[in-house]
Amino acid sequence: MRIFVLTGAGISAESGMGTFRDSGGIWERFDPMKLATPEAFAADPETVQAFYNARRANLRRAEPNRAHEALAHLETGLAAASGSLFLCTQNIDDLHERAGSLHVHHMHGELFKARCTACGAVHDWRDDLGTGDNCAACGTTGRLRPHIVWFGEIPFGLDAIGEALAGADLFVAIGTSGSVYPAAGLVREARMMGLRTCELNLEPSDNADVFDERAYGPASEVVPDFVARLLAEMR
Ligand code: NAD
Ligand code: APR
Repeated sequence: MRIFVLTGAGISAESGMGTFRDSGGIWERFDPMKLATPEAFAADPETVQAFYNARRANLRRAEPNRAHEALAHLETGLAAASGSLFLCTQNIDDLHERAGSLHVHHMHGELFKARCTACGAVHDWRDDLGTGDNCAACGTTGRLRPHIVWFGEIPFGLDAIGEALAGADLFVAIGTSGSVYPAAGLVREARMMGLRTCELNLEPSDNADVFDERAYGPASEVVPDFVARLLAEMR
């Protein structure tokens, strides 16, 4: 079986990473237009860097939860049964990797990476990032930005995402509100391609009625159960 899994902030909620549009979510406390757009960064880089430095510090303290671990187990189980998993995440954390997932597609980039706006080089970056830092590739100072996708920018790897979806049998969305495109449109594309579709979330998302199957509850409970059932189906 070839499975396409899309994860959102909800899968990392129980790891303390915070979601965006739940009550008390990040975009209720901060204005995304002042912190998560290229224009905001150009106008006030210090404020934007400080916002992501705080999220980077939080991520250094966070640990993967049972939902991340279940998806790493699914990747192994599918490989053993000559199946495949394309794990596409909207999240910028590295919790899937720390749980053991070997192949993760970060369509919105990665918080532990910085990109040089002078030469384009991408560097691992786990500490604070500031206007005084310089690029190890070209030596320019003050041109490093978070390597993540802001509102108004194009998500990474859309071709690879389209190809993986076209080759899959099952599409599973986990912990996403289905409110931001192009990620939110993937379930409709999956249905048009004839894939089985399933939503695992805390509560019905904006796309709930589009899915064939749904299961609601905390990801740390719902995802391990779903993976166990799926692997049993394949035996
Ligand atoms: P988009 O136009 O598809 O999404 C815009 C979304 O921004 C809206 O649907 C709404 O959900 C959100 N939004 C805008 N103003 C808001 C507000 N005041 N309060 C709450 N939510 C608000 O996205 P885009 O502009 O085409 O961005 C391209 C991609 O960049 C999207 O997929 C987005 O998810 C991504 N992104 C990533 C980050 C990040 O921190 N990694 C931040 C912003 C955007
Ligand atoms: N288990 C499962 N789902 C959960 C949990 C949990 N413990 N907690 C919250 N959720 C669900 C919420 O019900 C909500 O539907 O996770 C979803 C989180 O939705 P959002 O906060 O909108 O996050 P996401 O869908 O990832 O946002 C998409 O928007 O701002 C951009 O780039 C940012 O990648 C993000 C994108």
